[in-house]
Amino acid sequence: MNNKNLVTIADLSVKDIDKLFALTVRMKESHKNKQTDHSLAGKTLGMIFEKSSMRTRVSFEVAMTQLGGHAIYLTKQDINLGERESIKDVAAILSRYVDCIAIRTFAHETVTELASHSSVPVINALSDYTHPCQALTDLYTIKEKIGRLDGVKLAFVGDGNNVARSLAFLCAKLEVSFKIASPENYELPLESLEIAKRIAKTSSCIEQLRDPVEAIKDADIIYTDTWISMGREKESIIRRKDFKGYQVNGSLLASAKEGVFIMHCLPAHRGEEITDEVIDSPNSIVYDQAENRLHLQKALLNLLICNEKNEY
Ligand code: CP
Ligand code: NVA
Repeated sequence: MNNKNLVTIADLSVKDIDKLFALTVRMKESHKNKQTDHSLAGKTLGMIFEKSSMRTRVSFEVAMTQLGGHAIYLTKQDINLGERESIKDVAAILSRYVDCIAIRTFAHETVTELASHSSVPVINALSDYTHPCQALTDLYTIKEKIGRLDGVKLAFVGDGNNVARSLAFLCAKLEVSFKIASPENYELPLESLEIAKRIAKTSSCIEQLRDPVEAIKDADIIYTDTWISMGREKESIIRRKDFKGYQVNGSLLASAKEGVFIMHCLPAHRGEEITDEVIDSPNSIVYDQAENRLHLQKALLNLLICNEKNEY
């Protein structure tokens, strides 16, 4: 990989992704077999979190521990990025202490600015624009469950936000069919759809629809995300109203293929975007999906930190 960072899916080539997925398989295997891998001994990950997190924070921290390294969790209170100190200064100085930086923040520009001033790899751990670690784990999980990505059809029902955008970009790159059904005003922005279509060899594999039933018919995977992303809490009342009809529930599933997999990046707001009967059904793979965050991020950290040229 020419780029040392994982800021967006665009930083990765298909070859990089193949290598990342292959190493994830090995990381998962060796963890299950209780083998010790201290490939990151003496290395430190600095984790800047300006938003809440359970999976991302814990999986990154555990990943570093399991690989023999260490992680430092830095909240807004600790760093106060851009206010107590400029992003440039934080990037330059942290680069002298740690071997990699993960950042979860609001504006995507905060991630790009940090990456531009950092001499160590920077990983986007979620911005308002994208959540690349999530999408990579999701497509890895789909490959693990179905045994291939070729010809797979993913239907996303809900908000055309960060998670949907990363999935659209990665599906385009890996030639997975991506259909998204969103209510008016919550579609994936046209510009993002165009980027996804440009990435895809066949632009027809990326489609924005209105009707969830149409989006999910023939789908191998139905994916949803919260209607109220972090930072949008003030819009809760209107969003709950606008997303009515976009709940992944038993009645929607009645129109889906038998054996369709249900995915959710989590945290789930049970009873809003997804019902208990669906998320707890045998079709649901949300816990396997969440577990794979750990294995994939171990592979990612290993590739970014160990490779001196920062090439996958
Ligand atoms: N899916 C995900 O990123 O979860 P957290 O917000 O808990 O990290
Ligand atoms: N879209 C959600 C994803 C959480 C993992 C958010 O940004 O809050």
